Amino acid sequence: MHDILLKEQILSLTKKQNFFNLIILKTVNSTNSYAKELARGSSPHATVVVADEQTNGRGRLGREFFSPEGTGIYMSIILKPNEIKIPSSHLTITAGVAVCRVLSNVCDSYPRIKWVNDVFVNEKKVCGILAEGLGQETGNNPHSVILGIGLNVSTPSDIFPGKLSKLAGSVFPKSISRNELIAKILDELDSLCNSESIDRLISEYKRYSLILNKNISFTKDGKAYVGVAVDINNEGNLVVELDDKQKMILSSGEVSLGSSNFLN
Ligand code: BTN
Repeated sequence: MHDILLKEQILSLTKKQNFFNLIILKTVNSTNSYAKELARGSSPHATVVVADEQTNGRGRLGREFFSPEGTGIYMSIILKPNEIKIPSSHLTITAGVAVCRVLSNVCDSYPRIKWVNDVFVNEKKVCGILAEGLGQETGNNPHSVILGIGLNVSTPSDIFPGKLSKLAGSVFPKSISRNELIAKILDELDSLCNSESIDRLISEYKRYSLILNKNISFTKDGKAYVGVAVDINNEGNLVVELDDKQKMILSSGEVSLGSSNFLN
């Protein structure tokens, strides 16, 4: 039996009850696309779009985010960079930490973030984050950031399609509804967005890291590399030490643990 997404319940569970402008949809192509259209209009900071199902959920690097009805949280938050203290370049990391804070209280296993921002529980990807800026076309800073969070709450393992059946999982939290999870994630996000300290944000992010001090592999400009993930710097970039001790700094892209592709 799926729980039902309820606007009033979610709002009443948040700490600042009149803060979020919450829109609940039964089904939508993508909450990020929907929120983008709202942000192009006059939707305010902290507008949140949540859908029970997405028919074209989007992930990073042009991938699909599997979003069946009733079993996940598919949500996009419109953030105005001038209303928050954290720089917009750090919002992906901020969302990862917010999700992990909540999951660490509701899961039996410790959540881990695979840089940049896939959240794993029990070696399965349970959450992906897609941040998209609006208004950067002319080289300016974005006037809005759409922060999309997809969390598999109770999606049965046998319905993930294709390659996802090996990679993806759900959090299956005990005795907590999607409404409560949404409220908790929104509260953590709001609190982190107003934190003054990048140092503290990055330290916390590093504590959740799945890859720090591990062997990783990745490709850059068409070339394959193997190295050790030695640090995440205050810009949120990954510092990798290659076999010849040279250091490389990655600001985007995707890495794999070890020399295989089992987590991609
Ligand atoms: C990834 O895994 O690469 C990121 C996945 C992000 C999925 C979320 S679900 C809510 C929002 N709407 C989308 O279309 N994508 C994001």
